[in-house]
Amino acid sequence: MQRIAVLTSGGDAPGMNAAIRAVVRSGLEVGCTVYGIKNGYRGLIDDDMREMGARDVGGIIQLGGTVLGSARCAEFKTAEGRQTALNNLAKRGIEGLVVIGGNGSQTGGYELSKLGFPVVGVASTIDNDLAGSDITIGVDTALNIALEAIDRLKVTASSHRRAFAVEVMGRDSGYLALMSGIAGGAEAVVIPEQEIPAERLEEILNEAYARGKMHGLIVVAEGAKNNGEKLRQYFHEHKDRIGFELRVTILGHVQRGGTPGAFDRLLATRLAARATEHLIRSEHGVLIGWIKGAALPTPYPEVIGKKKPLDLDLLRLADVLAQ
Ligand code: F6P
Repeated sequence: MQRIAVLTSGGDAPGMNAAIRAVVRSGLEVGCTVYGIKNGYRGLIDDDMREMGARDVGGIIQLGGTVLGSARCAEFKTAEGRQTALNNLAKRGIEGLVVIGGNGSQTGGYELSKLGFPVVGVASTIDNDLAGSDITIGVDTALNIALEAIDRLKVTASSHRRAFAVEVMGRDSGYLALMSGIAGGAEAVVIPEQEIPAERLEEILNEAYARGKMHGLIVVAEGAKNNGEKLRQYFHEHKDRIGFELRVTILGHVQRGGTPGAFDRLLATRLAARATEHLIRSEHGVLIGWIKGAALPTPYPEVIGKKKPLDLDLLRLADVLAQ
């Protein structure tokens, strides 16, 4: 394979730039021409791509976000959109594609590979819900950002003996909430995989105060039915009976925009370099993920539509540690 391309798609994740850099430089090293596609699948359809040299990816390893841009592209979900993308790739003689992204992005890669176009995926999403990777690019940095906020909120919560909820990202996944809840010492964790009624959270906070705690902290995933706003409303409506309100901080996209830490830079570099090797060797139709301490391929059919389950034993651990 002589001409390859790389794109980043879906929600950006800290470490995506390290992955782009690794694809470009690994490709150049073995004599390939490497194209960068702008704005994910949008750029494939709009024919927005350009050849990249080693200097084009200089000074980006430490940057959050993605220098190529990203998008959630509805048009690529249509057969016409995908055909336009294939035509644009063919026009430049591009023979293979590295897709850096999470579930939706890898589904797009799988669709192209089913049409006969060589694609290798790189596991990247702060949600850590992608089958075929124990941990994905961006998770570690996003977790540390959530933790910094949690630690700060606990300080002010303790000073006033107040109750706080912190809402972290994860539309369909409670991973960030569960892990930041454990690492941040939360009194309760609320996740879409195992909902908790607001009444039970009220009890948990009251019990924590009765045990002499100076703060009550709930970490809640954005995708939980009782998300931050719902919990705020519940505690506000019943404040006279409960005796306190719940202050809610929604972290939102703050978690995605961080400077990638060492873990994410190294993970991204290793996954993307391995993905490039696989593509060039024509071992495509796979996702490269981190499995038991190594960058390894999993065939797309074993990844797509198979959300990675959350280890719910850890929810029990979070409860034990919240004594
Ligand atoms: O997929 C990553 C993620 O950050 C989710 O945690 C979140 O629910 C979603 O993206 C938000 O998407 P958008 O940036 O398109 O609003």
